[in-house]
Amino acid sequence: MHVRWIVIAGVTFAAACAGTMTNVRAPMGANLLPEAKTGAATPLRFDPNAKVILSSAAGLPPASYLPSQAERGAMVYAGTCASCHEVGKFVGPAFVESWKDRRVYDFYALVRSTMPLDNPGGLKEQEYLDVTAYILRANHAPAGTDSLKADTLVMRKTRIAVQ
Ligand code: HEC
Repeated sequence: MHVRWIVIAGVTFAAACAGTMTNVRAPMGANLLPEAKTGAATPLRFDPNAKVILSSAAGLPPASYLPSQAERGAMVYAGTCASCHEVGKFVGPAFVESWKDRRVYDFYALVRSTMPLDNPGGLKEQEYLDVTAYILRANHAPAGTDSLKADTLVMRKTRIAVQ
């Protein structure tokens, strides 16, 4: 049993059970742009109740999303996320190393409960799904014939298959 509950509290990641450390990863860091407005220099406003399960799920089928969904997600990213995360932030080796073969739900849940940093959970559910699809596409996960849907059971049963 290597599933861990990672409780996000400020920047502290607390692993709640003993065992190997293989599923604990360091945050990627945010590379805040100088002009990004994050309010007062206070601790990060993560939702203290957010619980994110980071689990490896290499045996599961890849998550499916539609190309049109990724297109919409690109606009969400440009309009909301890019003010703090430069375009390309969640693309490439660092992203692949952190997220490949994790459940798509892990990523979605993290972003939905903690982002945008100045308004956690403030986007529409569809926008969170679309931006997740965009990041999957940006990392060369193949598109499918079904959209990424807000069915957490399905998202827990599919993985991020990025290259
Ligand atoms: C107001 C600034 C701000 C906005 C807007 C914002 N973020 Fe963040 N984000 C941050 C900061 C700061 C962190 C750093 C947390 C850390 O390094 O642990 C972060 C961390 C993250 C992480 C965790 C990185 C990791 O893997 O450890 C993800 C994923 C993420 N943001 C995605 C998004 C997405 C997607 C959006 C748009 C919906 C968004 N963020 C909007 C500031 C922001």
